Amino acid sequence: MIVAVLGASGELGTLVVEALLTKTNVNTVRAVVRKSTEQLNALKASHDRRLDIAIVDYDSPASLDIALAGVYSAVSTLQGMRPVLIDLQSKLLSACIKNNVKRFIPSDFAYDFISVAKLNYAETPRGYNHFHEAAKAIIASSGKSIEFIPISIGMFMDLFPTDTFQIMDWNKKYVGYFGDEDTKQEFTTYRNTAEFTARVLTDPKPITKTHFHIAGHQASPKELAALISEATGETFVAHQALSLPFAGMDVIWGNGWSAWPKEKLDNDYYGPVIEWTQVQDVVKTEYELRKKGLAGKDKFKN
Ligand SMILES: NC(=O)c1ccc[n+]([C@@H]2O[C@H](COP(=O)([O-])OP(=O)(O)OC[C@H]3O[C@@H](n4cnc5c(N)ncnc54)[C@H](OP(=O)(O)O)[C@@H]3O)[C@@H](O)[C@H]2O)c1
Repeated sequence: MIVAVLGASGELGTLVVEALLTKTNVNTVRAVVRKSTEQLNALKASHDRRLDIAIVDYDSPASLDIALAGVYSAVSTLQGMRPVLIDLQSKLLSACIKNNVKRFIPSDFAYDFISVAKLNYAETPRGYNHFHEAAKAIIASSGKSIEFIPISIGMFMDLFPTDTFQIMDWNKKYVGYFGDEDTKQEFTTYRNTAEFTARVLTDPKPITKTHFHIAGHQASPKELAALISEATGETFVAHQALSLPFAGMDVIWGNGWSAWPKEKLDNDYYGPVIEWTQVQDVVKTEYELRKKGLAGKDKFKN
């Protein structure tokens, strides 16, 4: 079996490559990138025969055909705006269909905006995913079939205590939130996401589910403040945020949208094989790093 990771040079992409090499027995991992990276080269050095780094020109159909030849399943871990997430991903999905790839995981890895809206957590149905709509049209017009399976994970837990998301205020000892301090939110580390994705990619059987929902940890801002206080020995409180530190955060946390129902999560779809990291573990790591003046370092090692 050959499995392709499209965008393998990114944070998640590299971890998916690593998880495929270390947690599955897949014969060949094809890391599809514009250019290789130090991390991919290091993985190549220790898994030479199983890792194939394919440098592609995304504008060249022939180059994509070479990269996707014989591929069983593919994940896109690209990050960007419309030109990447819609235009380029559409091109990649079409190339996968042309090359008879059986399964395609799009680069969602976020909240499930569509289903959450349908479950009526939000008063206004906001759920619409432009790439999913484009993908439906591409698959329908191809006359072929491909399993198109998004994986929703909530928020990348690794980013939660960092300055990237600015949810935690380390000086004021706040856990910021919008909306309601008792509404549970969902968090998953990059590494756990990569491990689950690797299992979906290498599943030899057809997958009948059309969407996976995983969450390493579900907790409300109030619960998080208590867990973080315990982990750090300092008193943190949940605090209504006044500004929007990150685009979209108001939409995610401010409209009463809560975590996916716990009993419906797919965490154990492949059995209890993944050890799910909890938010307080990630916060503790960040806390220790901050004490040493190393905040933000090694955040994807959680
Ligand atoms: N839920 C959350 O909290 C959360 C947070 C962050 C990200 N995400 C999602 O997680 C997924 C992966 O994110 P990440 O953090 O791993 O992203 P990342 O580290 O920024 O990696 C992005 C990848 O996209 C590629 N890329 C970017 N622009 C491109 C272009 N124009 N043409 C071709 N390739 C391009 C990069 O290739 P090069 O190396 O060649 O530039 C790289 O491989 C994305 O879907 C993102 O939206 C979710």
